[in-house]
Amino acid sequence: PSLKKVFKKDFVIGTALSIYQIDDKDPQATSLIAQQFNTATPENIMKAQIIHPKWDVYNFEPADKLITYCKNLNLEVNAHALIWHSQLPNFVRQIKDADSVKTFFENHITTVAKRYDGKVKTWDVVNEALNEDGTMRRSIFLNKLGENFVTEAFRLAQTASPKSELYYNDYNNEQPAKRAGCIALIKKIQAAGVKIDGVGIQGHWHLGKIPLKQIEESILAYSALGIKVAFTELDIEVLKRDFQGADVNQRMQNSPSLNPYANGLPDSLQTQLAMDYEALFNLFLKHKDKISRVTFWGVHDGQSWLNGWPVRGRTNYPLLFDRNYQPKPAFYSVISTK
Ligand code: XIL
Repeated sequence: PSLKKVFKKDFVIGTALSIYQIDDKDPQATSLIAQQFNTATPENIMKAQIIHPKWDVYNFEPADKLITYCKNLNLEVNAHALIWHSQLPNFVRQIKDADSVKTFFENHITTVAKRYDGKVKTWDVVNEALNEDGTMRRSIFLNKLGENFVTEAFRLAQTASPKSELYYNDYNNEQPAKRAGCIALIKKIQAAGVKIDGVGIQGHWHLGKIPLKQIEESILAYSALGIKVAFTELDIEVLKRDFQGADVNQRMQNSPSLNPYANGLPDSLQTQLAMDYEALFNLFLKHKDKISRVTFWGVHDGQSWLNGWPVRGRTNYPLLFDRNYQPKPAFYSVISTK
C-alpha cells in the first residue's frame, strides 16, 4: 500500500528530504519516496546557514535541485524555514547592531521567498519563536528587533511570496502553555492584517507518551482561528528511556558504547510504536477537515536525525520504514486506520 494514495482524500503525506537523497545517491529511497509521499520538506538546505552563507552570497543550488527533484516525483514542496534562531550562518551570529540584523532579516526573507514563489506550496516563515511557558524565546531576532519580528516576517513573506501558504512552526505547541503563547502570536499577526495560513506542530514525540488529548485540543483551538493545522516533522523517539526507565541519552553521553537496541528493536517496542502511530492517525482522521498535511521527519530509520541527536551514534527507530526500506508494523497500523 501507499500512504499518499490511502490518505488521498484526507491530507497530503510528506517526508523530510536530505541532500543525499536529492543528489540521487539513494535510488532505493527515491523509489520509496515516489511511491509513498506527495509532499516534501527540505531537512536542511533551505535553512539560512546553507542557503545564505555570507552577507551577499546565496547558495541556491541545493534548493534548486530539490525543487527539480520534487517536480520530477510529483511532490509539493514545504519550504523550511525563513526565520529561525538555530542553524544561522556565522555572519549573522556575529552581528552586534540592530540595524544590521534588520537588514539581514529583510534581505533574507525577501530574496529567498521571492526566488521560490510559485515553486513551493508552503513556507515555514518563523520556526520555534516560543518558550515552553508561552513567552517569546530569547534570540537574536527578539533581542534586536523586538516581539514584532514574527508579524514583520510574515508581512515580508506575504509580499515576497504571494503564491505560497504561510505557516508558523514550533514543537510542543500542542502543550497548553506553549499553545496559548502560539495562539496569541497568531492573533497578533491576524490583528495586524497580515496573512497567516496555518500552524505547524512539529510532532517530535516519545514512545508510549503521545499527548493525544493536548493534540486534539490544539487542532480544535488552532482551527478556530481560521487557519490550517499541519503536522510537520513527525517522528516517535524510541530511545529516551530503556526498559529499566533509565535516561538513555544521559547514559550514552557518559558512555557512548551503551547504545541500547543497537542490534534491533524488541518486539514489545515495535508493537508500542505501531499502536502509537495508529492512535495518532485515528486522531488525524477524526479531524481531517482541519488538517492540511502530515509530514514524517525522514524517509526511513537509517537516516533519521534521531540517530545523532541529542547523542551521537544512537540507533533509533522513529519512522514507518526500516533501514532496509521495508515497511514496519507501524506502517501497516497507519494504513489500517482507513
Ligand atoms: C534538524 C535536522 O533534521 C538535522 O539534520 C539537523 O542537524 C538539525 O535540524 N526542528 C526543526 C528542524 O524545525 O529543522 C530540525 O531538523 C529538527 C527540529
